[in-house]
Amino acid sequence: MITLAVETSCDETALAIYDSERGPIGDIILSQAKVHSPFGGVVPELSAREHTRNLLPLLDRLLKETGFDLRKVDFVSFTLTPGLIMSLTVGVSFAKAVAYLLRRPLVPVHHLEGHIYSVFLERPVEYPFLALVVSGGHTDLFLVEGFGKYTFLGGTLDDAAGESFDKVARLLGLGYPGGPEIDRLSKRGREAYKLPRPMMDDPSFNFSFSGLKTAVLELMRREKNFKVEDVARSFQEAVVEVLVEKTVRAVRETGVRRVVVVGGVSANSRLREAFKERSEEEKFEVFIPHPKLSTDNALMVAYAGVERFKRGITAPPNVNPEPNVPLQEFGKIWS
Ligand code: KG4
Ligand code: ZN
Repeated sequence: MITLAVETSCDETALAIYDSERGPIGDIILSQAKVHSPFGGVVPELSAREHTRNLLPLLDRLLKETGFDLRKVDFVSFTLTPGLIMSLTVGVSFAKAVAYLLRRPLVPVHHLEGHIYSVFLERPVEYPFLALVVSGGHTDLFLVEGFGKYTFLGGTLDDAAGESFDKVARLLGLGYPGGPEIDRLSKRGREAYKLPRPMMDDPSFNFSFSGLKTAVLELMRREKNFKVEDVARSFQEAVVEVLVEKTVRAVRETGVRRVVVVGGVSANSRLREAFKERSEEEKFEVFIPHPKLSTDNALMVAYAGVERFKRGITAPPNVNPEPNVPLQEFGKIWS
C-alpha cells in the first residue's frame, strides 16, 4: 500500500511518499522559518500563502528525485486538524485535488496522532503506552491503548512548551524558531538561576509555561549583566524538569511503563538526556524519534494514514479542516 501524505498545519510544507511494506520512498520538507523569523513567530496569513506557493513545485521535485510514478499511489493522507486554519485549508484542498485526479480515497490524519506515530517509523511500540506530545502548539499527555484509542491525561493551561521556548528566545534576542537556538546556547551555559517549576507538584497532569516566560523577563531586568547562555540554560532546565517529572508521575500512577516523547520539543538534547536518565532510574522504556522526525514532517502523517486506511477510514470529498479537534475526540469521530 502506497500513500502520498500532505502536511501543512503550521509553517512547514511537507510531502511524503510511503510504502507500508517497504517504508519511505521519499519525503520533502520546506521550512518557512526565514519568512516568519522577522516577526518572532508564525504569521498565519503568510504561512498559508507560502504553502500555496510551494506545494506543487515541491511535489514536482519529490517525484523527480524519487522517479516515482504518482499513479501508483493507493490513497492520499493529509492533516485535517489541528493547526492554523488557512494553512490546513491549503493542504486539504491540495490533497483533495490530487485524490480526485487520481481517483483515489482521501484519508484524514490528526497532526498529534502523526507525531505519536513518528516513533513507529523507527520501531513499533507495544500498547498501552503514554505519549507526551510537546510541540509549538501543544503540550499534552495521553494514554494510548491502541490505534485511535486516546485518553487525555492533561495538557498545558496556557503556553505550549515549544511556544515558551520561542517566546523566551525572542526575549533573549535569538531567532525563530527559538527551541533549537536555546538548545544550542544552553550547552555553553550553566544553571546560574533557579527558575520556578510551574505546576510540578500539582496533582493534575496539567502544565503551565507562561509564568516561566515572565520569570525570565523579571530575571533579565534584575540581573543587568546576565549571560544569555546562562539564562537559556536555566530556562531549559526548568521546562525539562517539569516535563520529565510529570511524565514520571504518570508512569507511577498509571503503571504504564512505556513512554513515547514526540513533537518539535522532543528534539531538545537536554530533554532527551533527562528522559534517558530518569527512565533508567525509574525502570520504564522511553521512545523518542530521531530529531528529524520530531519536528513537523509528512512521513508521520503517512504512517498514521496507513493505519487509518487499514481500518477502512476515509474522508468524503466535502471534508473540511478544523482548527482544533482534540485527539481523543478525533479518535472516536474517525473510527
Ligand atoms: O512539532 P513542531 O515542529 O511543530 C508544531 O506542531 O508546533 O514543533 C515546533 C516547536 C517550536 O516551538 C520549536 O521551537 C520547538 O518545536 N523545537 C525545539 C527544538 N527544536 C524544535 N524546542 C526545544 N529544543 C529543540 N531542539
Ligand atoms: Zn507538530
